[in-house]
Amino acid sequence: MRVQFARPYLTGDEGDAVAAVIATGWVSQGPKVQAFEAAFAELVGAPEAVATTSCTTALHLALHAAGVGPGDEVIVPSLSFVATANSVLHCGATPVFADIDPLTYNLDPVAAEQAITTRTKAIMPVHQVGLPADMDAFAEIAQRHGLVVVEDAACAIGARYKGQPIGSLSPLTCFSLHPRKVITTGEGGMIAIRDPKLAERIRRLRQHGMSVSDLARHSTEKVIIESYPEPGFNYRMTDMQAALGLCQLTVLDEVLERRRRLAERYTAAIDRIPSLEAPYSPAYAERTWQSYCVRVGPRSPVGRTELMERLLADGVPTRRGVMAIHHETAYAGSTVELPHTDAAASDALMLPLHPGLTFDEQDYVIDRLTRHVIAQAA
Ligand SMILES: Cc1ncc(COP(=O)(O)O)c(C=O)c1O
Repeated sequence: MRVQFARPYLTGDEGDAVAAVIATGWVSQGPKVQAFEAAFAELVGAPEAVATTSCTTALHLALHAAGVGPGDEVIVPSLSFVATANSVLHCGATPVFADIDPLTYNLDPVAAEQAITTRTKAIMPVHQVGLPADMDAFAEIAQRHGLVVVEDAACAIGARYKGQPIGSLSPLTCFSLHPRKVITTGEGGMIAIRDPKLAERIRRLRQHGMSVSDLARHSTEKVIIESYPEPGFNYRMTDMQAALGLCQLTVLDEVLERRRRLAERYTAAIDRIPSLEAPYSPAYAERTWQSYCVRVGPRSPVGRTELMERLLADGVPTRRGVMAIHHETAYAGSTVELPHTDAAASDALMLPLHPGLTFDEQDYVIDRLTRHVIAQAA
């Protein structure tokens, strides 16, 4: 058997929806993006949502709009995808890495607070693999130190913290619509925004800083001469992507339910294997299970990477757990010590998990995993 590691959940209706957009002749940012933004904002409980080309550009735009620039520092976890730190760097600011909580693998609020200096402008908690970070703690720290919270919710569409949707908690929350995430538009991102005035500015910045959108200009009989009050970017989503996104919103609950059921089956199996550790789920969180990350414990007879190689030879692709950014060459100047981050990056791996994974395929993954870890021990 060969199992797929990840696969977006597409129902077959998407082609017609995208073709209908093409038939209108309006293929870049237009009415579908507007409709997708409105539906997304409602979903995540935010007054406004602004679509972008990716979560990376969403993070860059959100930080820029929050006033992050040269000389500023932003506190981020190192245990994240490299885009988290890159978005800070692209503002001309410095990402300051703080350690994670060893149970949740999310940024530790105590470590984050210890990393605050007079140059700190923002804290960027990441809801790693769709598990909400401890947002009450970050909101309290941010308020006490006068900082902005920008959430990296790349993997957290549909996640909840203490019953509240991720997207409704902070001034700025950024989501990814890449195919490896919960739902997809091919490539794409979204910023959930609390303040409508800030949303207006971010909408302008997303389209070259232009005072009027193409949609508004084409929807009037009047001549409009646009202006450019500040330099912007081209981070526009296309209407074809938005049509795909609207289809995806209709299956989000199903996607989350399928992921949850598969994750529970993995956890039940892994709880019977002493050398493996299932992911920890705090009571406050409803997670998306964007990935299922298992820890290969010290009692395992086979190391993490060798286990990945053996599983791949059996037709079971896996991925290493979340990376540690501060060890990458691009961040080689970083001398910070992050023991929990190092441990999590070296001994975790992700198992195949996607809404279309069948129980038979999953049983095969569990069988191979058990075989390698237990057979070796005997
Ligand atoms: C935590 C995190 N932040 C940011 C990103 C970047 O998302 P995108 O590919 O949409 O730019 C990812 C993607 O893997 C991610 O996992």
